[in-house]
Amino acid sequence: MELKSYVREIPDFPKKGVSYKDITPLLLDHEAMNLAVKLFMNNLPHGKIDKVVGIESRGFFFATLLADKLNAGFIPVRKPGKLPYKTHSENYELEYGRDTLEIHEDAIKMGERILLHDDVLATGGTAAATSRLIEKCGGEIVQCNFLVELEFLNGISKLDKFEVSSLIKYS
Ligand code: PRP
Ligand code: MG
Repeated sequence: MELKSYVREIPDFPKKGVSYKDITPLLLDHEAMNLAVKLFMNNLPHGKIDKVVGIESRGFFFATLLADKLNAGFIPVRKPGKLPYKTHSENYELEYGRDTLEIHEDAIKMGERILLHDDVLATGGTAAATSRLIEKCGGEIVQCNFLVELEFLNGISKLDKFEVSSLIKYS
């Protein structure tokens, strides 16, 4: 089974010239989901992972599954104004303008070992902002993992301090 065959490419979505990587066919298939979780688990560094951070919204799909397998806590990083308690915020650049991500201030204890997960690594802005949130909380990022990496956008260059792992690559 090749995971990539479960990703559907949608031309010109959300705008002309972009080939959108639609992971919903993979989410529909229990065996493909299981394989993805197994591959994520096999590619992790050694040592305990205390918490898994998933990035709203598509990062939530696998982050909770991984947290369960790892007997780790799950931390949602959310878009602004969604988290009810005290938060740290980080801005990041979009193609047009900026956006913000937030984390609860008390989500991580100093020195905890954190897995950062998202569905797609594109330009890397989202994951890099999340890495800054984790570090503000005192967490140590042991890996950043992604289902899909768009290598041609070189997002990995924004995560050069960290170990990065992705299951499906587009070059
Ligand atoms: C998409 C994707 C990643 C991010 C990657 O999320 O799910 O989180 O973009 O892009 P980057 O590497 O260029 O920052 P999006 O912001 O579209 O929101 P969603 O997950 O809620 O659909
Ligand atoms: Mg996202």
